Amino acid sequence: MSDRTASSNGTPTSEDKRRAALLRSVPEADDTTPLAAQLAEDARRRIRLQGARFAKPVSTRVFTIANQKGGVGKTTTTVNVAAALAQGGLNVLVIDNDPQGNASTALGIDHHAGVPSTYDVVINGTPIQEVVQGCEAVAGLLVVPATIDLSGAEIELVSMVARENRLHNALDAYLSWRADQGLPRIDYVLIDCPPSLGLLTINAFVAAREVMIPIQCEYYALEGLSQLLNNIELIRGHLNPDLHVSTILLTMFDRRTNLAREVADEVREHFPDQTLAATIPRSVRISEAPSYGQTVLTYDAGSSGALAYMEAAQEIAERADKLNDVTSAAAAEEEN
Ligand SMILES: Nc1ncnc2c1ncn2[C@@H]1O[C@H](COP(=O)(O)OP(=O)(O)O)[C@@H](O)[C@H]1O
Ligand SMILES: [Mg+2]
Repeated sequence: MSDRTASSNGTPTSEDKRRAALLRSVPEADDTTPLAAQLAEDARRRIRLQGARFAKPVSTRVFTIANQKGGVGKTTTTVNVAAALAQGGLNVLVIDNDPQGNASTALGIDHHAGVPSTYDVVINGTPIQEVVQGCEAVAGLLVVPATIDLSGAEIELVSMVARENRLHNALDAYLSWRADQGLPRIDYVLIDCPPSLGLLTINAFVAAREVMIPIQCEYYALEGLSQLLNNIELIRGHLNPDLHVSTILLTMFDRRTNLAREVADEVREHFPDQTLAATIPRSVRISEAPSYGQTVLTYDAGSSGALAYMEAAQEIAERADKLNDVTSAAAAEEEN
């Protein structure tokens, strides 16, 4: 259930009624004018999503955002899904695990050389609580920044003890530390990765349980995907038996082109359970936001791009509910 104001017995609350009345008041779109149709659709989505509260998962969900191609929207997806989840009332931690530090930039986090960062966590064993920063624009969103120092980590890791588990151990320790301190539990951890499969990415795969793959709706979208899936399979076999691809998000989707629709259909055919119904449109607002140190959710909250990321986040949160339902249903069956 995405709207915490809805009553649990299904009886509509006054908030539900207000929302329904607002939705009815939006004029039915005339399909012959695509712009009017889009505007009316966006107005409906805004009403549906405004102030929506997302359900908390039963336990902390840890995602690695991965794709071995660069420029497909990994970082954009990490920061915007994270911001949307936090705006939905959840506690979210972003770990910037890419030496480029684009996620830190987009979240307006100081990450010049020398700022305590992912590098210190992974290489020096510095506790996450000593490097984490709060995102000013979004309440409930914490960030472990990446600085240029991280570019050396790949080589330094090679000779280290438990080199694949360092991020996993640090994250575990941080989550326990929060519990000991009586701090609110982190609901979602999102780890942004570089495009290569080096030791940094492997650390992320070991720390996470779920993989989220953003796929760009363009030529060669699926190229390299089988290699990524093979690598995940290898990690699962050797380092992290729980790792699985739980979520695929179609990004830079342009519904006017046949190509984008074909790519989307192909992805859905291959991954019917993992692919989110929400798609992220190609949007100038989304690409502009990082240069202002912002996510699109704060940069232009009413834009199609912001709405799309809110829908994606809502779906991710609701799917956790479904997973829980399945698990509890299975448990109940076993008891009988
Ligand atoms: N939905 C979108 N619409 C328009 N531009 C986008 C969208 N998603 C990402 N971009 C832009 O595409 C470029 C690559 O995105 P990014 O998230 O940095 O990819 P990656 O992390 O996979 O390398 C960036 O300039 C970003 O602003
Ligand atoms: Mg990136």
